[in-house]
Amino acid sequence: MRVSRLLLSLAAAPLAWANPRPNPVAAPAPDSTGLLAELPSILSGVQELLSQDTITKLETIIDGAAKLLTSDNVDVLQDILGNAHTLLTKDFVSNTTTLIGDATPLVEDVSKLLGSILGTL
Ligand SMILES: *[C@@H]1O[C@H](CO)[C@@H](O)[C@H](O)[C@H]1NC(C)=O
Repeated sequence: MRVSRLLLSLAAAPLAWANPRPNPVAAPAPDSTGLLAELPSILSGVQELLSQDTITKLETIIDGAAKLLTSDNVDVLQDILGNAHTLLTKDFVSNTTTLIGDATPLVEDVSKLLGSILGTL
């Protein structure tokens, strides 16, 4: 027993010499708060997310997306996104918001008017 232990330390010695200065900084103690504490619930959420049903749906979506992303469609999408980007200036968004705000009571009035007209028929 003693001899084998001695042989083992002799065999391990070159390993210790090869790395004479092991990292003096101890590994940080496991954190029981923060992310580590949330890990179980995160993992359970991920597990829920990765149900067979979700995976099947994701496969369908990814498969569909892959088919959509032909080089022709990518060009079209780039055009659309480029135009949308050009359209969505602060000024445009502000004007459109105003327009929608102005149109809402109008639509309500027209709706009431139509309701009255249809009610008298
Ligand atoms: C927003 O409305 C202002 C004032 O009516 C107008 O001068 C401007 O051209 C509009 N801008 C856009 C992007 O529609």
